[in-house]
Amino acid sequence: MKTKIDIATNPFGIHPKGIVFQTVMSSFDNKSKLSLLDFGCRNGDFLYEIDKTGLFEFTYGVDLDKSAIDIAKLRGTKSLFEHIKKNHKFDSVYENWFDIVTVIGVIEHIHDQDSVIVELARLLKPKGLMIVAVPGRHVFSFLDMGNWKFKFPKIHKFFVRFSMSESEYQYRYVSNEYGCIGDIEAEKAYHEHFSLDSLTTLLNKTQKFEILEVDGTGFFYRILVNIQYFLPKVLKGVLARLIEWDFKWGNQAELVFTLRKID
Ligand SMILES: C[S@@+](CC[C@H](N)C(=O)[O-])C[C@H]1O[C@@H](n2cnc3c(N)ncnc32)[C@H](O)[C@@H]1O
Repeated sequence: MKTKIDIATNPFGIHPKGIVFQTVMSSFDNKSKLSLLDFGCRNGDFLYEIDKTGLFEFTYGVDLDKSAIDIAKLRGTKSLFEHIKKNHKFDSVYENWFDIVTVIGVIEHIHDQDSVIVELARLLKPKGLMIVAVPGRHVFSFLDMGNWKFKFPKIHKFFVRFSMSESEYQYRYVSNEYGCIGDIEAEKAYHEHFSLDSLTTLLNKTQKFEILEVDGTGFFYRILVNIQYFLPKVLKGVLARLIEWDFKWGNQAELVFTLRKID
């Protein structure tokens, strides 16, 4: 299955968030009374676009990173944003509450993934959807910049101190008050990549979901995104065309699963 992204209208374009956005928008005919939780929402950019559609009644974003949640709150959307701690248990009022839970680029940051998946299942209504996006494990996985801080700590430290500051480095990576190294749980200490099998096994383990759709983006995606990151603005557009082309035929670099909660 390959989600067709309408680049002209999709606010995230060729990106896992683009697939998730498209999947959310095509999932229910009537969205006017739907509620959506974005788990690990960071600065709320996904919910900002979801709210702009005006189709959802209640949207809620949570994240471990308080500074990101503070930015999300400043966006002035109708979403509710909340800073949570690791292994957070949500208030029982949210049990069987949500029609959709999105988890975009988050599961791979978490140490106790089973407990989080069970907790998110608790929040979904029966037959509610969970959409999970993670990095795919394939030949270019080693290029993931999210792992540079673990593989090349000295280079990473130099880069962060150069581009930000020593205090920012200490705050984010050394004495992170949320128990993370950057945005990854300290007990995890690596940015995990999943094969189709390993993600299927993880999501089936809890027996809370059936897998409805398996999707993915690109093959050279990771290498192209890395190159694009370092290019001057005028050349970023050229890489964007290549990423678009890569997306059309590859499906290994990023995986997106759509799951339905079993009654
Ligand atoms: C790569 S970012 C993705 C953010 C956002 N979903 C997006 O697609 O832009 C990963 C986010 O997961 C958050 N995170 C990591 N562990 C978490 C946890 N246990 N509970 C909630 N958020 C978590 C991090 O703080 C970070 O904001």
